[in-house]
Amino acid sequence: MAHVLVIGASQGIGLETVKAALAAGHRVRAFARSAAGIALSDPGLEPFAGDALNGRDVAAALDGIDVAVQALGVPARTLLGPVTLFSDATNLLVPAMERAGVRRLLAVTGFGAGDSRDAIGLLQRLPFRLVFGRAYDDKDAQEMRIRRSSLDWTLVRPGILTSGAATGRFEVLADPATWRNGLISRADVAQFIVGQIDAPTHRGQAVVLVG
Ligand SMILES: NC(=O)c1ccc[n+]([C@@H]2O[C@H](COP(=O)([O-])OP(=O)(O)OC[C@H]3O[C@@H](n4cnc5c(N)ncnc54)[C@H](OP(=O)(O)O)[C@@H]3O)[C@@H](O)[C@H]2O)c1
Repeated sequence: MAHVLVIGASQGIGLETVKAALAAGHRVRAFARSAAGIALSDPGLEPFAGDALNGRDVAAALDGIDVAVQALGVPARTLLGPVTLFSDATNLLVPAMERAGVRRLLAVTGFGAGDSRDAIGLLQRLPFRLVFGRAYDDKDAQEMRIRRSSLDWTLVRPGILTSGAATGRFEVLADPATWRNGLISRADVAQFIVGQIDAPTHRGQAVVLVG
């Protein structure tokens, strides 16, 4: 069983990953600014209140950790302004992990980040850029920082997120020729992430996840 740090653990994919990792028997340090509000009770859970942009918080959270999951998100209302959370947090996290000797990183970015940008359909391309362009430019920088690290990483690029239950029925697209957009629940993304903690079959890869 691993000691897992989930960064961005208070809601969304991060919270689903906390639940799935606990269910799989892992110990989980659940990191978020509002970690104290995580309404779960489990002996394997350690809520950890911290800011991903604070180097001291991040270094302290890495103590004793085997695997880190980065599942940060920004509120939709901020998407039209400049977005730097993903790259700024990653520029802190990667060297902190390298210093701490924590090698395994699973980072959630999204379909359309990095080299999957070209796989966005022609009709979706313009609206995607208009709404998500700033966030995805920053996710590009996040992915690049991870790729040039010495870490043992997997980039997790879900399609359009839903809040449905885990189904276990989703596709993991590792071959760029197969990349496409589609719906997937946050709970299924969490299933994939926890599966990669148990059996890391996608080391050094960026995978697109669709239901
Ligand atoms: N919506 C979609 O269809 C879609 C599609 C593909 C990919 N994605 C990406 O998937 C990711 C997860 O999205 P989601 O909707 O599941 O999550 P979310 O609801 O946006 O949750 C974001 C998490 O990040 C934490 N966070 C934000 N800033 C932080 C900071 N400075 N320090 C510590 N924690 C911080 C939040 O906790 P606190 O506020 O408590 O700190 C929260 O737990 C995002 O990167 C999103 O862009 C979304």
